[in-house]
Amino acid sequence: MDYPKAIITEALIQFFENDYRRIEHALSVLHHALRIAENSSGSDHEVLIASALLHDVGIKPAEKIHGYNNGPLQEKYGPPEAERILQSIGMDNDRIRKISEIIGNHHSRSRYDYIELAILKEADAIVNRMESER
Ligand SMILES: [Fe+2]
Repeated sequence: MDYPKAIITEALIQFFENDYRRIEHALSVLHHALRIAENSSGSDHEVLIASALLHDVGIKPAEKIHGYNNGPLQEKYGPPEAERILQSIGMDNDRIRKISEIIGNHHSRSRYDYIELAILKEADAIVNRMESER
């Protein structure tokens, strides 16, 4: 059973509630991240899945607090939200820290040499491009 994927997807849906566009975006990014990871070795499956599904959770608090969101605000507000969600489902602390760093860096120049960060950025770029062409 793909335990983390199902559990984190459920948590993502609870978090974004009826914001289906955000949920669909996250699922598309996960799809592409897993596809890219098939051809690159060394990525941690759980870190990749959680990073892909939760990468944009900072959008919701950013919009609530500031009325808009952008890359820096997503990087600021995303990590604490992701940490809270991942703690609630019992993810181990080492992975939570790494996922948090990835989410806090996914819109700017990479500060970490993590394959999962590189894959997330590539997958997000693909999905953002597809969405803008719709
Ligand atoms: Fe995204």
